Amino acid sequence: MKHLISPLDLSVEELDHILSLGQEIMKNPEKYSHICEGKKLATLFYEPSTRTRLSFEAAMLNLGGKVLGFSSADSSSAAKGESVADTIRVISSYADICAMRHPKEGAPTVAAMYSEIPVINAGDGGHNHPTQTLTDLITIKSLMGRLDNITVGMCGDLKFGRTVHSLINAMVRYPRVRFVLVSPNELKIPDYLRKEVLDAERIDYIETNQLEKYMPDLDILYMTRVQRERFFNEEDYIRLKDSFILDASKMQYAKKNMYVLHPLPRVNEISTEVDNDPRAVYFKQAKMGVYVRMALIMNLLELD
Ligand code: CP
Repeated sequence: MKHLISPLDLSVEELDHILSLGQEIMKNPEKYSHICEGKKLATLFYEPSTRTRLSFEAAMLNLGGKVLGFSSADSSSAAKGESVADTIRVISSYADICAMRHPKEGAPTVAAMYSEIPVINAGDGGHNHPTQTLTDLITIKSLMGRLDNITVGMCGDLKFGRTVHSLINAMVRYPRVRFVLVSPNELKIPDYLRKEVLDAERIDYIETNQLEKYMPDLDILYMTRVQRERFFNEEDYIRLKDSFILDASKMQYAKKNMYVLHPLPRVNEISTEVDNDPRAVYFKQAKMGVYVRMALIMNLLELD
């Protein structure tokens, strides 16, 4: 049985297959509308979510399946002290596949150890968010026609941003991908990513706190929110939260064919005046998340 806990659980070939299937579904969704009839997806969300939970639910409904689940730890028996291991043992007899979001890093890994159904990590603490990565990759591939030979700027909270960690892990496997990592000093990428991934794989990258200077070099600008829920004190959050705000004046430095992505939710880091710029694709990106999650569900249920 396959699970998706980290983007590295998928080989590049499997990743490319899921992205291609997602693109095929996007073109012809009707063809796939009955493929999961009789199947159930459980969404086990111990942490808030709008896009991930609802796009998973939309994905399963679009495939003709059904959904069940909970949207907060408080409305589940976790509030009474039930462990993730016990919960997944029970859910395994209620559903065919599950997506789990949890504030603790590693919780979906524990779930996978006890599960009799495929477990999808829908975000674990500041660690990984592999289905956001699938969403990011299908967006880039659909817009640019490739995933290699790209300069990707990542800006904001690179320390706690799990979407950043997962996307770096996935993109280093494609040739000639360069990174410009823009953050305040306190919110740089974790050491393990720098040493064990970027340095180990000899990836071309720079770390900087100057967004405007590097804007003209970028093919993709991946903006991220400063992750308030991961800070130990509110003072640090307030000091750092508006370090980088993308607005129309900064967009003037960008290429005409650069794209701005953001996993969302946005707080203040992209001014709403950018929303009407044709290079702003974050709402299109959220929509593509449904198609690629449809492809992933089919893949893990071996229906592709
Ligand atoms: N991108 C993302 O994970 O959004 P949600 O927190 O709304 O699921």
